[in-house]
Formats: sequence, C-alpha cells, structure tokens
Amino acid sequence: FAAGPLAGQRVLVTSGPTHEPIDPVRYIANRSSGAQGTAIAEALLRLGAEVIFVTGPADVAPPDGVALHRVETARQMLDAVQAALPVDAAVFAAAVADWRVREASDRKIKKQAGTLPALHFDENPDILATVAQMATGRPGLVVGFAAETNDVVENATAKRARKGCDWIVANDVRPETGIMGGAENAVTLITSEGAEAWPRMGKRAVAERLAERLAAALG
Ligand code: C5P
Repeated sequence: FAAGPLAGQRVLVTSGPTHEPIDPVRYIANRSSGAQGTAIAEALLRLGAEVIFVTGPADVAPPDGVALHRVETARQMLDAVQAALPVDAAVFAAAVADWRVREASDRKIKKQAGTLPALHFDENPDILATVAQMATGRPGLVVGFAAETNDVVENATAKRARKGCDWIVANDVRPETGIMGGAENAVTLITSEGAEAWPRMGKRAVAERLAERLAAALG
C-alpha cells in the first residue's frame, strides 16, 4: 500500500530509445540515455503512483519498484503500452525511432568489396498519438515530449495539437545547451492554458515538478 498524492493511480511511462534492427548485429536508433524518463518514473513512485515502465535499451538502469517491460523496437513498445492500458495518466518520454528498416536481415549482412547495402524504411507507429487519440479508454492525462532546436513554443504548441495530447514538455536541445546526455534540462510546459517556461534545473528536479503537476491535475 503506497501513500502519497498519487496513491491508487496507475501511470505509464515510456523511456529510452528504440532500436530498429538492420540485421542481428546492427540497428538504427535515436540518441537517448533514458535519464529523464527514469527520473520521472522515480518521482511518480515517490508520490505513491503505481508505475508501468516501458523502456527501450537505455543507458541508465530502470528504477526499482516499477512494473518493468523491456522492449527493443517501436512496434514492441506500442504493444507493451497497449497491454498496460487502462491507466490514469501516461507520460511518453521515449525517443522512438520514426522509421524501421524494411525487411531487416535475419543474417549478418556481409561486407562485400565494391557493393554497398541499401536500406529502405517504413514509418513506425506514433505511440503517443495513437494513445492520445483513442476513442475509448484514453488515459485521463496524456503527456508528450518535444525536443526542439528552434521556435520551441511555436513548434511544441503545434505538436500538442497534432498529436492530441494534453501536455507537451518541450526541451531545447540545441547542442550548445549541453542538455542531450547531460544532467540538466530547460523545459517549457505547454498545456491548454499556454506555455510555461521553467528555469534550467536538474533532470531530477524537472521530474519532481512534473510529477507534482500530474498529481495536482489528477487530483
Ligand atoms: O514527433 P516527435 O517524435 O517529435 O514527438 C515526440 C513525442 O512523441 C515524444 O513524447 C515521444 O515519446 C512520442 N513519440 C511516440 N512514438 C513515435 C514518435 C514519437 O510515442 N513513433
């Protein structure tokens, strides 16, 4: 029995990258340590939530105390997310690969002098948009992330509308910010009320503040 403002609430968190195989030893992926998603899961646990944690192959270890589902690809992540429903809230912090390799080889592609492999891609499902636009059984609060290098508020506001989610946590990932792979984050929270710029703080502090906002919204 957990105490805290989120006791009795089921919250889903996706985290980490997905890996889309080219062959058994090679893959394409987005750069993601899983640090922010893991910190969010920990903060939700501290507030008493039951946390379902669906993670791709991340650098950081998943938190103790979550219901853990490890996946590799975007399609596996979607399956795990759908199997976890219904939930009261869902936070999509994973850096999902937009494309998968069509006809990944089940044998290692051999290097051959004079020839180069060609890759063809298919589009992956958008997990956030799929859940945010569910006609029945949609979580009460759906939170997405947006990594932006320019026009952060404008782009993230458009993304919120396009995906159909309730909140977007937008982060400024211009390389000079050092945020990608770093310990700090500078985020703007986009809600139906508008944009709220948070001061630059540690990823753990961002997670705590987000979890508190979530608890207040789920009331
Ligand atoms: O469209 P974009 O990748 O910028 O959107 C980022 C948000 O959408 C993140 O919350 C991410 O977890 C989610 N997403 C997803 N499935 C995808 C692509 C992105 O859930 N295939």
